Amino acid sequence: MTILVTGGAGFIGSNFIFYELEKHPEDRIVCLDKLTYAGNLSTLKNVLDAPNFRFVKADICDRAAVYQLFEEEHPDIVVHFAAESHVDRSIENPGVFLETNIMGTAVLMDACRGYGIKRYHQVSTDEVYGDLPLDRPDLFFTEETPIHTSSPYSSSKAAADLLVQAYHRTYGLPVSISRCSNNYGPYQFPEKLIPLMIANCLADKPLPVYGEGINVRDWLYVEDHCKAIDLIMRKGRVGEVYNIGGHNEMRNIDIVKLIIKELGKSEDLITFVKDRKGHDMRYAIDPAKIHAELGWLPETMFAEGIKKTIRWYLDNKEWWETIISGEYQKYYQEMYGNR
Ligand code: NAD
Ligand code: DAU
Repeated sequence: MTILVTGGAGFIGSNFIFYELEKHPEDRIVCLDKLTYAGNLSTLKNVLDAPNFRFVKADICDRAAVYQLFEEEHPDIVVHFAAESHVDRSIENPGVFLETNIMGTAVLMDACRGYGIKRYHQVSTDEVYGDLPLDRPDLFFTEETPIHTSSPYSSSKAAADLLVQAYHRTYGLPVSISRCSNNYGPYQFPEKLIPLMIANCLADKPLPVYGEGINVRDWLYVEDHCKAIDLIMRKGRVGEVYNIGGHNEMRNIDIVKLIIKELGKSEDLITFVKDRKGHDMRYAIDPAKIHAELGWLPETMFAEGIKKTIRWYLDNKEWWETIISGEYQKYYQEMYGNR
C-alpha cells in the first residue's frame, strides 16, 4: 500500500512515519510537507534514503501540486496531519490557520475524490470540544460531546472536521477522524509547553506559566497516538470519530515543577505571566470507544514518558538549538517579551 502522510516533517507526523516504516516495512510512505517554521527536514534525515520513502515539499493548499502528487502516487490511504498547530499563534494571526487547516483539508479531499482512495484519515484534536470545568472531574469528552471551540486554531480544526463529515455524507468519501489530547515526546517544536520548559530550564531562563498554572491537559506519549492512528486507518469503521487519550490529566504548574525536579533546577525560575486569551481550563478524553472497538490502550505511562522525553531533548540538543537560534527568537520576544 502507498500511504500519503501530510505534515510528516512536524512533531506527530514524523513520529508516525518512523512508526509506520518500522511496523509496516511492506508499505510505501510518501510525505508531503510545506516545511513551514514547524517542519524540519532534518527530523526525517534517517529515513530520507529509505527505498519505500519519498519526501515532497509542497503546500496542501496548492491544488495543482497536490493533484500532481496523486497522479504520480495514487495513494491508498491519506493521513492528514499538516496544520498550523499552535494556539498562541492562532490568536495573533488567525488567517493562515483558516487557509491551511480548512482550505488545505478541502483540497486534499478533492484530490481523494478525484483519484479514489481506500481511506482518508483526519488527525483532529480534543480542542474541538472546547473545555471542561475544573470542579467537575466526573466529566469527559466523548465522541458525542458537542463541538464548542475557543480559539481560532480549534475553530479551524472543527471546521475541517465538519467538512470531512460532509465529504463522507455527500460524496461517500471513506473517511475517519481521530481527536487526540495533548501529545509529548521527541521532535516536538519548542514553542509547546513541555519542550519550551525543558529548553528554558537548561538555559536557566524564566519559565513562563500562563495565569495561575492550574489549567489541566490530558497528556499522551506521541507513540501511543501513532499506534492509535495506525489502528483506526487500517481497522476503524468508515465515517466514525474516535477519541484518543490516556486518562493522564495534569495541571500545567505540576508539569513545570516535575521538569524542574528532573533537571535539578530551582522553582525560582517559575514566572507567572499574563494568561492566554480564551484559555481552555481542562481537557479530558474518554477513550472507551477506541478501546472497545480496536483494543487500543496507551502503553507509555507519564512517569516513564516524561523521563524519556527529557532524555531525548538532552541527547538531541543540536536539533532544537538550531531551531530556537533563528526566526524563533523573534517569535519568543513578541510572545513573551512584555508578558
Ligand atoms: P506541527 O506544528 O509540529 O507540524 C505541522 C507540520 O505541518 C509541519 O511539518 C509543517 O511544515 C506542516 N504544514 C503546515 N502547513 C502546511 C501546508 N500548508 N502544507 C503542507 N504542510 C504544512 O504539528 P503537530 O503537533 O505534529 O500536529 C500534527 C497534527 O496533529 C495537527 O493536525 C494537529 O492539529 C493535530 N494534533 C496535535 C496534537 C498535539 O498535542 N501536538 C494533539 C492532537 C492533534
Ligand atoms: O489538546 C490537543 C492540543 O494540544 C493540540 O490540538 C494542539 O495542536 C497542541 O498545540 C496542544 O495545545 P495546547 O494549547 O494545550 O498546548 P501548549 O503546549 O501550547 O500549552 C499547554 C498548556 O500550557 C496550556 O494550558 C497553555 C500552557 N502554557 C503553554 C506555553 C507554551 C504555558 O503556561 N506557558 C507556555 O509558555
